Amino acid sequence: MLSAEMAAALNRHLNTELYSAQLYLSMSSYANFLGLKGAANWFMVQYQEEMVHFTRFYDYINSQGEHVRLGSLDAPPSEFASLLAMFQKTLEHETYITKCINELTELAVKERDHATQIFLQWFITEQIEEEENDRAIIGKLKLVGDNGYGLLMIDNELGTRVFTPPPATGQAP
Ligand code: FEO
Repeated sequence: MLSAEMAAALNRHLNTELYSAQLYLSMSSYANFLGLKGAANWFMVQYQEEMVHFTRFYDYINSQGEHVRLGSLDAPPSEFASLLAMFQKTLEHETYITKCINELTELAVKERDHATQIFLQWFITEQIEEEENDRAIIGKLKLVGDNGYGLLMIDNELGTRVFTPPPATGQAP
């Protein structure tokens, strides 16, 4: 069972995960518009992963006898200065998400809500990986700068990212 404060906080974050999905969907489309098919694939996979995150919150809130409250979302940006700008925005957003997850965890600790602490553990680990991946790509993009061949190589690499669907039980990997 969730406290009213925890249920509200989890619902807020569920909506933030949905915004994350929309942000990366927008980036995928813009990368495609620029002819960067690999980056478009990378951001589409990121969109799919965010929908898994959203579903994890959805399932958890429901499993605790609560129900989901969807809110209106701000429209994500639809144009970006460069591929580097897209990944910088991604890292900035993921750093914000890490802060949100930490705040949710602090609330769960304060309330001695052990179930929610365990639920959030997966996200703490996931955020380390997300930020690390973004930093690695930003590093490569800074290295190649405006070099077209270098950008093409990175775009090819981004095109190899594959979405792994969660197991059929509804639990994300
Ligand atoms: Fe759902 Fe990228 O954090």
